[in-house]
Amino acid sequence: MTVIPNADTLWDTRQITPLIDALVEQGWYVGEHFIAPALCRALSQDVDSLQTREGLHEAGIGRGGEHTLRRDIRGDAIHWLDRESLAQRRYLALMGELQQQINIALYLGLFEFEAHFAHYPPGAFYRKHYDSFRGRANRVISTVLYLNPDWPVDGGGEMALYDAEETEREVARAHPEAGTFACFLSDRIPHEVLPTRLPRTSIAGWFRRNASLGGVIDPAR
Ligand code: OGA
Ligand code: MN
Repeated sequence: MTVIPNADTLWDTRQITPLIDALVEQGWYVGEHFIAPALCRALSQDVDSLQTREGLHEAGIGRGGEHTLRRDIRGDAIHWLDRESLAQRRYLALMGELQQQINIALYLGLFEFEAHFAHYPPGAFYRKHYDSFRGRANRVISTVLYLNPDWPVDGGGEMALYDAEETEREVARAHPEAGTFACFLSDRIPHEVLPTRLPRTSIAGWFRRNASLGGVIDPAR
């Protein structure tokens, strides 16, 4: 079933309730047809245009001074969403409303959303990792939206999610088909991007809480 978001609330509660329930019960959620095809197409066109303008840059690992390029760990190229297009503003508005709904339901105190486009060329992957570490949990909930229409079954590039306790046990595999949306607790769910056979695009995003340590305000990225 595809639910068309209505103009007033952006989301249909029939979409949000299962997502929040799954986050509480298992720490992760994957939903197909979650974001409208027209918006996914427009976001995918943004990535195409960024590629022709050389607006994507190779992603590294670690923040600030610890930032290094490690092709043996991750092979994507990224561009942070900057509200440049209507599609980006629309997606950020949807995420802003999702943030509010999660805060109302779970009292997580999420105050900000940051996200980047990611392009994985054929052969690229992202090794198993957490998106944040306990005690430094500025990233609270991770999100991924896929932008690849008609992804073939043998296209590779799935995201594998692992159990929070038994971290070797795979619990879900998100196929990177356009419209599929995944979210999970950033410091609890190990996950990885399996090697892709075809060029693969997504938007990875994080709902953040302000985790200032020792009086130092955590930088946004
Ligand atoms: C990430 C990540 C998953 C994906 O960027 O941290 O895990 O499927 N991305 O793109
Ligand atoms: Mn990740």
